[in-house]
Amino acid sequence: MSDETTQVEAAGDEFERDFAGLGEMQLVGADPSKAEELLRIVGELKVRHTGKKSAIAAAKKLIGKVAAEKRADFGQLVQTVENKIVSKIAETEAKLKDLVSQARTESERLDVTIPGRRPRTGHLHPITIVRQRIEDIFVSMGYSIEDDREIETDYYNFDALNIPEGHPARESQDTFYTTEGFALRSQTSTVQIRAMERRGAPIRILAPGRVFRRDTPDMTHTPMFHQLEGLCVDKGITMAHLKGTVTEWLQRLFDKDTRTRFRPSYFPFTEPSAEFDFSCFVCHGSGKLNGERCRPCKGTGWIELGGSGMVHPNVLRACNIDPTVYSGFAFGFGLERMAALVYEIDDIRHMFENDVRFLEQFK
Ligand code: DAH
Repeated sequence: MSDETTQVEAAGDEFERDFAGLGEMQLVGADPSKAEELLRIVGELKVRHTGKKSAIAAAKKLIGKVAAEKRADFGQLVQTVENKIVSKIAETEAKLKDLVSQARTESERLDVTIPGRRPRTGHLHPITIVRQRIEDIFVSMGYSIEDDREIETDYYNFDALNIPEGHPARESQDTFYTTEGFALRSQTSTVQIRAMERRGAPIRILAPGRVFRRDTPDMTHTPMFHQLEGLCVDKGITMAHLKGTVTEWLQRLFDKDTRTRFRPSYFPFTEPSAEFDFSCFVCHGSGKLNGERCRPCKGTGWIELGGSGMVHPNVLRACNIDPTVYSGFAFGFGLERMAALVYEIDDIRHMFENDVRFLEQFK
């Protein structure tokens, strides 16, 4: 065998050895993440064994130099070896590229049939729902919604409301005090004073808000609860306006056939004072539902709601409004009781425990 032939066969053998090395790297079925690395190694093999400086390239140059009668055979040999190298490399490259693209497809796969993640829609608290419905009614009657502070001085919570130091009414509204002479307001009536001081008369406001009392929690009491306070001061306002207004908003909230009832009462900041009830929105005042005692009104046909009256002259005076020129009415009631009635909640503590399973029911 001639030197040239040996040289060509050696080139082929060397390639086979290198190529076998690849096989040891578990080329086929290789981890797709390693395919790119293998592809780079194959690229190097390609340069080494088929590039300009490869043994096979050198062998090609010899073709013209071998004796004429051996040239055809030698050329054939070189061609065969080269073809083998080129095709093995091409085949391997193709497999690896396939693996790389499979790996990419896999990693970028998107299952368009997976159901979308539905955003959880929030909803309002039962107290907020009732409050907003009542606010809307009053806004439509020309009232503005008044918001004010929850931390108050004795003056706004009591004195200005005609409840001087030592007055027994202070006792029933004991609240939480700070060491700096402030207290958490025990009633939204404080907003009557703040609003009249700020805006004078005439005035029509509805003041919703949190109030606080030193109460032990039970089914109908919590130390923090909500009130809605109404105030209307103008020239010539009478008790008839109070009754008309209270009746109108209750009829709009419940039913056109809702009736109201005013019972004489006492509040230091109104004179005369009255508590007001409305005919039950479930039994419409009959006290009976399907022959049984109606629950919300306990069979009486009436639901007690809140306090009201004509604003006491002392209160107007405390706000620099002349009681000989202006008169007004005010009323106030608790929102928890209202929400509990509307949504048939038997224990108002549920409203503040933030249990979503409970809160979710009111939409
Ligand atoms: N502030 C009273 C309370 O908390 C409720 C009330 C009664 C408000 C009569 C008023 C009113 O405006 O006129 O018990």
